[in-house]
Amino acid sequence: MRCVWLADETDTAGWRREARALLRAGVSPHEVSWGVAGALGDAPAAGPLRACEPSPGLFDAAPPSDDEVPAGTPAAVPAPRVPASFLTLADSALLHRDAGRFALLYRLLWRLQREPGLRGDPLDADWLAAQALAQAVHRDQHKMRAFVRFHERPTPEGPQYVAWFEPEHHTLASQAGFFQRRFARMRWAIFTPDTSIAWDGHRLHHGGPDRREEIPTDDATQALWLTYYASIFNPARLKLATMAQHMPRKYWHNLPEARLIAPLAAAAAQRAEAMVKRPGTVPHRRRAVCVEPAHPSRGVMPAASADPLAALAIVHAHIQACTACAHGRQATQAVAGEGAPGAALMLVGEQPGDQEDLQGRAFVGPAGQLLDRALAEAGIAREAVYLTNAVKHFGFTLRGTRRLHKTPGQQEVLACSRWLEEEIALVQPTRLLALGATAARALLGVTVSVSASRGGPPRRRPQDGREVHVTWHPAALLRMPPDERERAWARWVADLRTAASESSVAR
Ligand code: URA
Repeated sequence: MRCVWLADETDTAGWRREARALLRAGVSPHEVSWGVAGALGDAPAAGPLRACEPSPGLFDAAPPSDDEVPAGTPAAVPAPRVPASFLTLADSALLHRDAGRFALLYRLLWRLQREPGLRGDPLDADWLAAQALAQAVHRDQHKMRAFVRFHERPTPEGPQYVAWFEPEHHTLASQAGFFQRRFARMRWAIFTPDTSIAWDGHRLHHGGPDRREEIPTDDATQALWLTYYASIFNPARLKLATMAQHMPRKYWHNLPEARLIAPLAAAAAQRAEAMVKRPGTVPHRRRAVCVEPAHPSRGVMPAASADPLAALAIVHAHIQACTACAHGRQATQAVAGEGAPGAALMLVGEQPGDQEDLQGRAFVGPAGQLLDRALAEAGIAREAVYLTNAVKHFGFTLRGTRRLHKTPGQQEVLACSRWLEEEIALVQPTRLLALGATAARALLGVTVSVSASRGGPPRRRPQDGREVHVTWHPAALLRMPPDERERAWARWVADLRTAASESSVAR
């Protein structure tokens, strides 16, 4: 019995080299036992491999090279003929977890030299078995491309995007090129129970197994992905069986969005019905404001309340679908809040502006940039707070092609209050900071001035008793004359700092 040891489970080059040498030496398949060096202590392959195990010198028992054929072997056969289609098939099939794959493929190779009709025999058992292995590997590779989910992990060199995946076969290294091309500018790593690969922006590194616990599960990237997933979920097109076919359940435990499926499915019929009843939208035509009653205490998604991140993503999807007031029917899209549940401080603005409406993110226009500067000066990380608005759609009047900001009225604030209350209930901030009078009124239910919070912040009664710090809206600072703005700036930053320190927000 000839024992052949490959360097590792994916040593396809080693298999090719050894198979070619064995073939040239005329060693028949039943005389060869294949194994993987690293797997010796784990699960040895069944069958003849056992006979090879005891010798400590096994690793040295390399098969003969092309030039050196050991004595006693049958007469050498002519140079092997290997069809290209076999090599392609073998490259995939060799990545299967089946311990018998090396022997199967060598047997096929051996038979290809001797059975001229084998290549065209679609029913040959060895061909079929090898094809089944290759197909399973292709499926696994496809699933890896589709179901790897990266999470953001802070490192001293900047964020690294890490993912945990459990491939069925030895497919990780074969997909490195795909992820490298796709995410060339990111620093990323994919960990599996067997091996890992990491890209540092310049080079790929292959490593050993890692632990699933190393992957963060509550990062901002995941929150954004859940929000996106919930917002593209179409309740009118729900087909759970088809969904499970494309996204097999065995992958669900590593897919953050899987936990949204049950609550989204549960709410689908109700949402689809509301979609059907809703009047069609006519762009840029003013309509009468219709205000839905606010139900802050009811909660839109009680089934998801055990998981605030998932519930928040679903609330965001509901916000996206809301047309309870004229703004909702006029704007490009709704702009929900941004940040993670548990953020100690929630900043509430008035309504999205032109840029926010186009980009779908709160505070990204000129006012947002000023706020970013103030947050930085106050030592507050934007990612550590939850940023939202009292009204979720951009309200404007058209002046030619220009969209001029229109301050939301009490009706819009009321229509959106259910969403703001949902966000507060799910994020559970210890402090609220109202940016401007609209936000203060939305949070407190009464009109208050910026100076109201100076003698101690008012509390939200009868809602939840939370303290509401009140300060200027960034647009108010933008409108101030330069010297006034300079004086107000220091006070504004101090207000942010006070709210943050009282809420113990992470800096
Ligand atoms: N003004 C706001 O109140 N909110 C935004 O998101 C942007 C500008």
